Amino acid sequence: MKEEARKIIVTGGAGFIGSAVIRYLINEIGCFVLNLDKLTYAGNLNSLKNETINPKYTFKKIDICDTQSLTSIICEYRPNIIMHLAAESHVDRSIDGPSEFIQTNIIGTYNLLEASRSYWSKLYDKHKEEFRFHHISTDEVFGSLGMQGAFTENTRYDPRSPYSASKASADHLVRAWHETFGLPVVLSNCSNNYGPYHFPEKLIPLMIIKALKGEPMPVYGSGNNVRDWLYVDDHARALYTIASRGRAGESYNVGGNSEVSNIQVVERICAILNELSPRKDGKRYEEQITFVSDRPGHDFRYAIDATKIKSELDWVPLETFETGLRKTVEWYLDNQKWWQPLLNKHYQGQRLGKSAD
Ligand code: NAD
Ligand code: DAU
Repeated sequence: MKEEARKIIVTGGAGFIGSAVIRYLINEIGCFVLNLDKLTYAGNLNSLKNETINPKYTFKKIDICDTQSLTSIICEYRPNIIMHLAAESHVDRSIDGPSEFIQTNIIGTYNLLEASRSYWSKLYDKHKEEFRFHHISTDEVFGSLGMQGAFTENTRYDPRSPYSASKASADHLVRAWHETFGLPVVLSNCSNNYGPYHFPEKLIPLMIIKALKGEPMPVYGSGNNVRDWLYVDDHARALYTIASRGRAGESYNVGGNSEVSNIQVVERICAILNELSPRKDGKRYEEQITFVSDRPGHDFRYAIDATKIKSELDWVPLETFETGLRKTVEWYLDNQKWWQPLLNKHYQGQRLGKSAD
């Protein structure tokens, strides 16, 4: 089948990564896309303004926990691929209130698997063979690394937060639906994404916005925790590669080969801002950095060994952390009209996930 003729359902397409995936699918691949999203605080259709007017794009406001609507919309749309990104995604919120994470990430994934199985079981021949259910997961299912080593696809699962435990549960369900029912699934486990349209609760956008507002920039604990950063458009390209060419039943690790400690991330943001948008009082943004109490159960280090996706599917990241971070800071400087309403309406930058009580 020609790529442009493909019909792809994206769940969570109004979120940070989902919207990047839809922009890629519509603008680079040219296929048909149905975006299924509940529009929680993290869902934002302003991230898809240009795509909304494209005749190949459709949006339906739907909760993946609503089995009936999900089953009928899938049968109606008749997708070739389902890319499942809808989730509660913020670790700190999972500490404050795990319930939504269990509902959406576990029960919602179960519903989607059942709705997909019901649709897929009635397909014939090539359509049945070529169908893919792609679960977009995280490297956090593997737990926390020390100073050495990297997660491979064979690393033992060891999730340590309610968020990562809910994503690990979803991964297990997806694999079980493949082994037991033969549903052609692929999985991917990716490291920390960053880039435009990132909700301002996450480290990088939060730090940029706090800096610009002249507020303290809160670094958890020592600031020595390490994340492996991947520019979101590189992830979107990896996801389509996996969904369209990945082998059924396989999982693929995706990472940016860009390990940076949190304090270094924040210092680099300050350096870019000092250059592009200097403080009016002549002081440097570094003066706003404040060390605060640590996140409970804070994973020390994540690092991805992305050998498999490179050798099997020929994917490598195109952006370095330096180029990607500069683009990101520039985007937030130019797009206050995108992020300011989120601060007014959904989140004012207060500390989340402080206590495990
Ligand atoms: P996000 O929080 O920005 O977006 C999540 C989207 O899902 C939102 O649009 C929200 O409205 C929607 N949603 C939530 N609950 C829903 C429900 N019950 N029904 C339908 N829609 C619902 O998340 P993100 O950062 O874009 O992450 C997307 C996926 O990628 C998640 O599954 C996440 O676990 C995974 N992931 C994220 C990262 C990262 O660094 N952000 C890294 C690896 C994997
Ligand atoms: O590794 C992939 C995961 O990356 C995804 O599965 C998650 O959906 C995504 O949210 C992200 O999780 P993290 O917990 O790593 O991202 P976050 O931006 O919340 O935090 C990044 C690091 O920065 C982490 O070590 C905690 C720290 N931090 C975060 C915030 C919000 C701070 O020091 N200060 C902060 O204010």
